[in-house]
Amino acid sequence: MSSEQPKLDGPDLTLGISLTALADGAMLLGHANGEAVMVVRRGDDVFAIGAVCTHYSGPLAEGLLDGDRVHCPWHHACFSVRTGEALHAPALNPVACWHVDVRGGKAYVTEKVEREPLAPTPNPSKRGAPLPSTIGIIGGGAAGNAAAEMLRREGYNGRITVFDADADSPYDRPNLSKDYLAGNAPEEWIPLRPSGFDEANGIEIVRSQVASLDAKNKSVTLDGGTQHRFDRLLLATGASPIRLTVPGSDSPSLHYLRSLADSRGIVAASASATRAIVIGASFIGLEVAASLRARGLEVHVVAPEALPFEKVLGTELGKFIKALHEEHGVVFHLQRTVASFNAAGVVLNDGENLAGELIVAGIGVRPNVALAEAAGLATDRGVTVSELLETSATGVFAAGDIARWPDAWTGERIRVEHWVAAERQGQAAARNLLGAREPFHAAPFFWSAHYDVTITYVGHASSWDRIEIQGSIGKRDCALAYQTKGKTMAVASIFRDSVSLAAEVAMERGDANAVSALFAGK
Ligand SMILES: Cc1cc2nc3c(=O)[nH]c(=O)nc-3n(C[C@H](O)[C@H](O)[C@H](O)COP(=O)(O)OP(=O)(O)OC[C@H]3O[C@@H](n4cnc5c(N)ncnc54)[C@H](O)[C@@H]3O)c2cc1C
Ligand code: FES
Repeated sequence: MSSEQPKLDGPDLTLGISLTALADGAMLLGHANGEAVMVVRRGDDVFAIGAVCTHYSGPLAEGLLDGDRVHCPWHHACFSVRTGEALHAPALNPVACWHVDVRGGKAYVTEKVEREPLAPTPNPSKRGAPLPSTIGIIGGGAAGNAAAEMLRREGYNGRITVFDADADSPYDRPNLSKDYLAGNAPEEWIPLRPSGFDEANGIEIVRSQVASLDAKNKSVTLDGGTQHRFDRLLLATGASPIRLTVPGSDSPSLHYLRSLADSRGIVAASASATRAIVIGASFIGLEVAASLRARGLEVHVVAPEALPFEKVLGTELGKFIKALHEEHGVVFHLQRTVASFNAAGVVLNDGENLAGELIVAGIGVRPNVALAEAAGLATDRGVTVSELLETSATGVFAAGDIARWPDAWTGERIRVEHWVAAERQGQAAARNLLGAREPFHAAPFFWSAHYDVTITYVGHASSWDRIEIQGSIGKRDCALAYQTKGKTMAVASIFRDSVSLAAEVAMERGDANAVSALFAGK
């Protein structure tokens, strides 16, 4: 993540702000002692917190204030305006808080109070049962890491062990197809935590693959045969790219992208390549296409569908994204598949030869459910979990790409592959591992970046009978409501963060009228 200092806007808040200029519910951006700070008025209370989101430096004062929480406009992290605590991922670190003196009809921002990243929350969740002594987490990616951190933030003092064979985890996986791959983000930004962070917080990381799981006894056996037993367990094994099986699929030119090592491999291969072939017009496929264009490679995309994203985002948004990539020089070979690989590149199913020294396949992922299946846990195209994220085995929870949970908004059991959802599930599962029994009601959220356009999506619509379009897709200022029988199941947006945020908050409250109202005037 960038450590660039933001430029300071607004008034110097140490000189005082007139309370008459600060309406109830207002957020005012200013600065104090060289830092961007925003003041927030809630009734008679005035709060001051850091104005820059700790995820990717989003402008919090342009976000949504909901009670005493502010939601970041960019990727929907949520902070307490009272304490600065990062209440919901993707932000893992709090923002600083400043004391505010109210006197003579003015509010003065005074001393700064910083929270440690894993400082215990002032409002730990309520627990009904004795705490477990040991918790094992299988997988140290988005969900596993967020869970381990939340256990400490909840004040848990027991033993936490995370198993993950990936030597680099945990890291910012979404960046691997975006700025890092494009050459705009150095590798120092990719780790989620500095080295030594786990030791300092008593989180033991075991760099080993878990080979099997005994769900009844809550024990795991590692690849080398070592066994570890726990009081409670979290499964967060994520997903793996689907591999091609056509002739020549062992070509050294063919890459997949899931891990930091994979992304490093593509970066290295791009240095000597002039032409790239991307197989699959998925989010990852097209983000890779954009990043390789940024590196100056000629990029060809091969995909079986007639229009990218049509099934996920609809025809209009699909056309926009295709045109956006074409404007940037990407050449599409749609309604085509790869039949085989040869020394020069690939042969398509219509016999055409396509040359390319670098080939990246992004044809989807499969949830890593083998451990769960072999352990006899209930599975259904993912690991089946309750609204508490507990699997069919008591005391064994699952979160992230593998979890299929009962989603309150859609009324369906869903499984998604979204960074923020995985982290939030990890955080919710952590509280439930400690006995909080809190249902997981977060609306799934994802974003995808293509050149200078970011698409955000909240909710889940596996199908729809109508798409309501607000604003203009062509002008890159729009929100789309995906509706089934009059109910908006999901909202996609481009640079209409306020609609996306309001939809998320309303969905989490179960307020269908509020979601509809967002599209009422269009
Ligand atoms: C290149 C890329 C870009 C993405 N971009 C976006 C984006 O822009 N927006 C978005 O919302 N989502 C994005 N995603 C998806 C997002 O990264 C995933 O949804 C998220 O990482 C899922 O979190 P998870 O914890 O379930 O799995 P992961 O983050 O994949 O973590 C799983 C971990 O489990 C480990 N593991 C697996 N099996 C075992 C085992 N048997 N024993 C021990 N450890 C094991 C793995 O090594 C891995 O570290 C992207 C994904 C990729 C690959
Ligand atoms: S920048 Fe705030 S959530 Fe990403």
